[in-house]
Order: sequence, then structure tokens, then C-alpha cells
Amino acid sequence: MSQSSSSGRGLFSGNLGYVLAVAGSAVGLGNIWRFPYLAAKYGGGIFLLVYFLLLFTFGYALIMAETSLGRNTRLSPVGAYRSFADKQHPFLKIGGWLNAIVPMIILPYYCLIGGWIVKYMFEYVTGGSTAAATDGFFVGFITSNFTPVFWHLIFLGCTALIILKGVEKGVERASVVMMPILLILAFVVAVYSMTRPGAGAGIAYYLIPDFSKFSIMTVVAACGQLFFSLSVGMGILITYGSYMKKDVDVEKATIRIGFMDTTVAMLAGFMIIPAVFAFSGGDATAVNAGPGLMFITIPKVFASMGMGTFIGLAFFVMVFFAALTSSISILETCVSTLTDELKWSRKRATMFMFFEAIALGVPCSLGFGAWDFISIAGLSILDMMDFLASSILCPLCALLTCLLISRVVGIQKLIDEIKSSSAFRGENIFRFCVTYLAPVILTLVFLSSVAATLGFIKI
Ligand code: TRP
Repeated sequence: MSQSSSSGRGLFSGNLGYVLAVAGSAVGLGNIWRFPYLAAKYGGGIFLLVYFLLLFTFGYALIMAETSLGRNTRLSPVGAYRSFADKQHPFLKIGGWLNAIVPMIILPYYCLIGGWIVKYMFEYVTGGSTAAATDGFFVGFITSNFTPVFWHLIFLGCTALIILKGVEKGVERASVVMMPILLILAFVVAVYSMTRPGAGAGIAYYLIPDFSKFSIMTVVAACGQLFFSLSVGMGILITYGSYMKKDVDVEKATIRIGFMDTTVAMLAGFMIIPAVFAFSGGDATAVNAGPGLMFITIPKVFASMGMGTFIGLAFFVMVFFAALTSSISILETCVSTLTDELKWSRKRATMFMFFEAIALGVPCSLGFGAWDFISIAGLSILDMMDFLASSILCPLCALLTCLLISRVVGIQKLIDEIKSSSAFRGENIFRFCVTYLAPVILTLVFLSSVAATLGFIKI
């Protein structure tokens, strides 16, 4: 018996440690900011239905696949792909890099939204909570060219400093305390939102699928959200898996992580979507507010609440921590790719990513102000980068990973890897999804995204 499994406690902490580390990275702005606005934009209930169908089939299978591939090879994505590349499969050489680029695209705008959170936190501390709830406050903020860039730098600077100083463990430990508070707070606010007059229509919109709102873009958006929120489809979990102890139950860990991530996203939806209906004064187009949805709606909820300023401040502080643990994990992923593959020092890699995130983040911010004339397929610069990462590159990377597994590594090897530490109840679903279902859906999603970018389908 291995040392850690000889006492129940050691084994538990191996499992729990893994789940908490991945959950800290997975739960972030994807759940609280991105999920509600996409659900609102893509038809509410129908988006939710498609999201759950995808989550239970290939979402689950992809997490298991990446994690077990990492644990089996003990390599990062670039290394894992390269170790299987040969004359027959030369595409695998670039496959790893394709994965590694995704977090480099996400980091800049992730920190921009993180900056918006810091700005709101600041408003709530300095007595600006009432102003923040007024119409036009948010638009005034993001269209002013300098202010959002300033807050972006603050958030990005915090993330980079934490990585440079190597204190990410401390932040993660703090966030283990913050996470339950965030859950309780989100629950309270969600109940409050749902009981406002007029909120019923929002709850119905969120939960009841309206099939007339279905289009291929619903699938594209839900699939992109799955990738973003679970940090899957870009090789992140290959890295996490490579640090996983051999006695951790992969399936149980996957289910727990998926459950936590989905719970936070659902709660955020319950906080925001009914409130949009209740506070928009009957304006149904308000659900289409895009990336600004939470920033426009949530302050109105707090403004109408007893102790709203205090609860609002607590809320933004918790979201800040959730976002920070995620941005740390994104930056860490980028830095470790650069240090491993290009033999850069950590400092050099961090500085490089810092400037890269400024170079790409500032245009995202200006895309709402001075550069708002730049758009492709009706998307702002931020939306374009987001679409490129989660709807074009992630499906492509996930497809490559499925092919790598079924054609080169051999799916049985991963099944054996998973079974070496626990039973594998979803074995047949896993086999079917990785070999057949995921490649078909991913190809479809990838082609639709490209078609949408070229203007053939409306996003
Ligand atoms: N999943 C996180 C969220 O929902 C974002 C995230 C964390 C991420 N780590 C990542 C995204 C790595 C891309 C790559 O907020």
C-alpha cells in the first residue's frame, strides 16, 4: 500500500487537494461573468439544455481524457503531443502549441474583465455604489478610454506579481475560505433576485427551453462556454493530470469539479437573469447586453437591497478572488510552457506575458471606446478574441486531442490508467464520446465558427 493510502486521511487529502486546486482554477469569471450573459444572449433555457447535454457527454469525456493523458505521460501539453509525434503524424508537433496558445489569448481580456471587477470593488468602498447602479454608468466607464486600461493594469499587475513572487499558494489557500462565502452570498442574492416583482418571466426564460431560439450558434456558444469554464480543450488538464497522484480517483474528481463549476454558473444565472427582467422596466432587449450584462444588472440589485452596499462589496471581493485564482492559473500555464519549451527564466517568461497581455488587452478595452469602429461579424475586439479562443481554437485543439488519443495513444491505455486507481463507471460513454461523438460535434462546431467569422452564419 502506498504511503498516502495507508491512512484514510492522507488519501482523502490527495483527492481533496486535487479537486480544490482544479476547482480554484476552474471557478472564475467564466462562471460568474461569462455564463449568465451567454445564457441570456442565446435564448436562456435552450442554451442551458444544450450546455447540460454537452457537459454530460463530451465535457465529461474530455476532462477524463486530458487528465488521464497527463497522468499517464507526466508531461505538459506541448511535451505530451511532441512525444507522440512521428513521421506518420507530423501534425502532432504543432498540436501542442495550438493548445498552449489558447491561454495566451485568454489572459489579456480575462485581466481586462478582472479590472472591471476591481473598479466596481473600488466604487463600493468609496461610496459610489448608488452611482454604479444608475443607467449609463457602465457604458460611461467602458467607453472612457483611459480608466478601464488603468484597472486592467492593476489586475494584471497583481496576477503577474503573485507569479513572480511565487506566492500563488497563499492566494489559493485564501480562496478556499472565500469560495464557500461566495457560494452562500450568491445563493442569498439569487433568492433575492428571483423574488423581485417581474422576475418570474426571467426565471421562465432561463429554465424553459424555447426551441424556436435554437440555432447552430447555440451549440457553438454552449461548447465554447464549456471549454472556457472548465478550462478544458486547451491542454490545461493535461498539465494538472501530470501532477496528479496515482491513487486519485479520476472519475470522482472529475464529477466533483464539474459539479462545483456548474453550481456556481447556475447560481450566477439565477442572480442575474431574473434581475434583468425585474429591473429593466420591461425592456426585453436588455438580455442582449453582452459582456456588460453583470456589471449593468448586479449593481441595481444591490441598490434595491437592505445593506446593499455591504453585500455588494462582499460580492465583488469574492468575485475578485475567484477571478484572481483563475488568472493566476492562466498565467502560470503560459509561463510554464515558455520556461519548459523555450528554456526561458520564470522572470523573463512572466515579463513577456505581462507585456503581451497589455499589448492585446489595451485594444480589447479601446474596442468599446475609441476603436469601436473595428468589428468582425458584429463582434467587438474583446468578443473576437474570445470567439477565436473558445469557439475556434478550443474545438480544434479538443479534436486533435481526441484524434491523438484514438489514433495514436490508444484509448485503452487511458482507460487502464483510470482503472488503475478506481472503478470506471462511465467507461462506455467515455469510449464512445472520445472516439465518435466528440470528433463529430467538434468538427461541426469548428466549421460553424469559421463560417460565422466569414459572415455566412449570424453569431
Ligand atoms: N475556467 C476559468 C473560468 O471559468 C478560466 C480559466 C482558468 C482558464 N484557467 C484557465 C481559461 C486556463 C483558460 C486557460 O473563469
